[in-house]
Amino acid sequence: MSTNGIAAAVTRALTGVVNPVTGKDVVAGGQVADLEVDDAGRARFVFALRKGDPGTLVRQARAAAEGVDGVSGVKVSVQLPQTATGEASAEMPSGAAAAPRRGRGAPAGTVPGQPHQTGLQPGSVPAPTPRPGILSGVARIVAVSSGKGGVGKSMVATNVAAHAAARGLATGLLDADIYGPNIPVMFGEERRPSVTGAKGSEMIVPLEAHGVRLMSLGFLLEREQPAIMRGPLIAGILKQFMEQVSWGRLDLMVVDMPPGTGDAQLSLVQTVELDGALMVSTPQKVATGDVRRGVKMFERVNTRVLGIVENMCGFRIPGSGEVVDLFGRGGGEDLASELSVPFLGRIPLDLAVREAGDAGTPTVISAPSSPAGRSLAEITDRILESLERLPPRK
Ligand SMILES: Nc1ncnc2c1ncn2[C@@H]1O[C@H](COP(=O)(O)OP(=O)(O)O)[C@@H](O)[C@H]1O
Ligand SMILES: [Mg+2]
Repeated sequence: MSTNGIAAAVTRALTGVVNPVTGKDVVAGGQVADLEVDDAGRARFVFALRKGDPGTLVRQARAAAEGVDGVSGVKVSVQLPQTATGEASAEMPSGAAAAPRRGRGAPAGTVPGQPHQTGLQPGSVPAPTPRPGILSGVARIVAVSSGKGGVGKSMVATNVAAHAAARGLATGLLDADIYGPNIPVMFGEERRPSVTGAKGSEMIVPLEAHGVRLMSLGFLLEREQPAIMRGPLIAGILKQFMEQVSWGRLDLMVVDMPPGTGDAQLSLVQTVELDGALMVSTPQKVATGDVRRGVKMFERVNTRVLGIVENMCGFRIPGSGEVVDLFGRGGGEDLASELSVPFLGRIPLDLAVREAGDAGTPTVISAPSSPAGRSLAEITDRILESLERLPPRK
């Protein structure tokens, strides 16, 4: 069949996907745009998700397209409902959905409400030169980092990945915390990954849980076995996790980093071109020094900082409704404005998060309407939206 014929068949298949909110099929409802099929049978289209649409709609559209004869692969660019300015909730600071700071020599943008940005920081070093072709099937790569441990990096990485997957994006999560890999626990996954391929060119098959493809050293170690490793080994393992894991085609890969600004962070940016880093901070004003160092480190290696997330803000006392700012408030937001990076929102301390962790189900799935579940979903949408605006990864 010609590519035009296949494109027409994909459109027909998409008319079979009905949006339960409007009652119209997604083509008639104007939610599908820019449909193209290339010579290799790869179809791509833009899907405009609207407020209130079920997160499964994109997945249904993708499945419908994948089911068409002659289609070898499907790439959906999801356009999210506008969360910018007008509709922003009180928790969402202005500028949160603003254009992210640009790195890698891209022209500087102006962030509304913030001073004009210049491209690179003084003292920034030339972009490291990751090997081309590594993770070439992955459209976007985002690292979740911070200055310290225990601030909620893994929790944020877990929920961003799970929510993106629920939005219909093919999503992977690479646990780069070689010292304390806890992605297996957060996803309730204990199996060992299988290996495929001929001898000498074996590939590890990532496990899949809650719609996310996962790889972690935790899957390979014996239980409770400590991982004792130094710099060069870390770089080796990270590289193996990228090159020798059959991730397949992914719209988004989230990388859960170990604490600090050390070997793992530098290895990562030297191995692969990142679309950006997300920094997690607690709200104490005094505790943001580590995050500041983290932001500067990424800027020095020309990696875009997508923004700062403030975690463990206000605890609502069960039964009373009173909110106590156990760890203070506003440190992450102040730091974002000081460093002119977007502030992506705050996540309250929430029992649902701990319960989700214990149960091995991400909060956005187990308790989507809890305060933390809601803010994690909003933060993820903001991240996805800012990724939409970036140029394609090299
Ligand atoms: N907002 C929150 N509310 C309740 N518990 C949280 C919250 N954020 C993180 N936690 C808990 O704090 C602990 C540390 O979080 P984790 O994501 O492992 O931190 P990191 O990866 O930065 O070391 C985990 O047990 C996690 O479930
Ligand atoms: Mg962690």
